[in-house]
Amino acid sequence: MKTLILSTSEEDLERAAHIIREGGLVAFPTETVYGLGADAMNARAVAGVYEAKGRPGDNPMIVHIARASDLGQLTPTLSPDIVTLVENFWPGPLTMVLRKKPGVPDRTTGGLDTVAVRMPDSEAALGLITKAACPVAAPSANISGRPSPTRARDVIADMDGKIDAIIEGEDCRIGIESTVVDMTGEVPVILRPGIITAENIKAALGKEVVYDKALLGKISEENQEGIKPKSPGMKYRHYAPKADMTVIEGQRDKVKAEIERLKALNERLGLKVGVILFEEKAFIEAAHDFFARLRDLDSEGVDLILAGALSDTDGVGFAVMNRMLKSAGYNIARV
Ligand code: TXA
Ligand code: MG
Repeated sequence: MKTLILSTSEEDLERAAHIIREGGLVAFPTETVYGLGADAMNARAVAGVYEAKGRPGDNPMIVHIARASDLGQLTPTLSPDIVTLVENFWPGPLTMVLRKKPGVPDRTTGGLDTVAVRMPDSEAALGLITKAACPVAAPSANISGRPSPTRARDVIADMDGKIDAIIEGEDCRIGIESTVVDMTGEVPVILRPGIITAENIKAALGKEVVYDKALLGKISEENQEGIKPKSPGMKYRHYAPKADMTVIEGQRDKVKAEIERLKALNERLGLKVGVILFEEKAFIEAAHDFFARLRDLDSEGVDLILAGALSDTDGVGFAVMNRMLKSAGYNIARV
C-alpha cells in the first residue's frame, strides 16, 4: 500500500478526514504521542488498525472526540465527577473509561462494556476529528510492542506502506501517553499513569483516587501472575527497544557510578552501550525524551541500554518509570 504523507494544512486535514470517513487509516499527531486513527463506529475500519499494528484483538482503543457534546454518542451516563474532569482537563492528556452505549462496536472496545474516551489538545488532531465528523479510535501509531512514536519519522519507520496516510506534524509536546482513569465506579481508579497525576485528579474532584493494583505490584514475577490488570493493554510486553535494557535503581551517585562501571565492562567485551540518564527531578523532560531516546538508540544499533531509574513514587516521574520498567521487561539492578 502506498502511504500518503500529508501536512497539517486545512486542505490535507480534509483529505485525511475523507480517508477516515471512507473507513481508511490515518496516523496523526496529538500532544502525547502520535495516534493511528480510524472511524470508531466502523468495526471494519477498526479491525484494520489492529492488523496494521499487529495488535492483539482484545486490547481496546481510546476513542478521540473534538467536542464534549460528542460524549453522548458513546456513553449513556455522565456523573458530576466526569463532568468536572471534562471541565478541568479537556482538551488534554486524560482518558476516561466510561460505560459504553450499544452503538459503539465491540471491535473498538475489545468486547468490554466500557469505552475509553479523550479529547486531545492538539490543533491538528482536533481539526482532523472535526472534519471527519465521527469519533476517531486511535491507539499509539507504533507496531505493537515497540516504543510509542513521538515524532513523525518514528511513525513513518513503523507504518509506511501499512496505512493510508500519515499527517506529519510537530514532535509531540508531552511524549508519553495520556493518563487513563476508570470512572465507572464510585472511586476513580488510575489504570495508566501520565502527566495528569493522581494528585491533580484528586484536587479537581476533592475525593480519593486510587491506582489499579497491577500498576503498583508489577515488579516480581509472582505479582505479574497473581494480579489481573484491569486495563488490558497493561499485560503485554510494551515499549521494547531492540537492545537489551537494564534499569539501575538506587541513590543517584551510586546509580551513575554503576552505569559507568557496566558501560566500561560491556564495551570491553565489544558491545555497543547506550545510556539513558535524565537530570535529577527533570520528570517533564524525561517524559518528553524517553521514547525518542529508545528509538534513537535502536537506530544507532546499540546492544545494551543502561537507564537510571527516576525517584518518584506518584508524580510524572512515576509515569515515566512505568514505561521505563516495561521497556526493560522489568529487568532491574539495585545498587
Ligand atoms: O495518549 C494517548 O492515550 C495515545 C494518543 C494517541 O491519544 N493513545 C494511546 O492508545 O496510548 P493505546 O491504545 O496505545 O493505549 C490505550 C490504553 C491501553 O492500555 C488500553 O488497554 C486502555 O487504554 N484502554 C482502552 N480502553 C479501555 C477500557 N474500556 N477499559 C480499560 N482500559 C482501556
Ligand atoms: Mg500504545
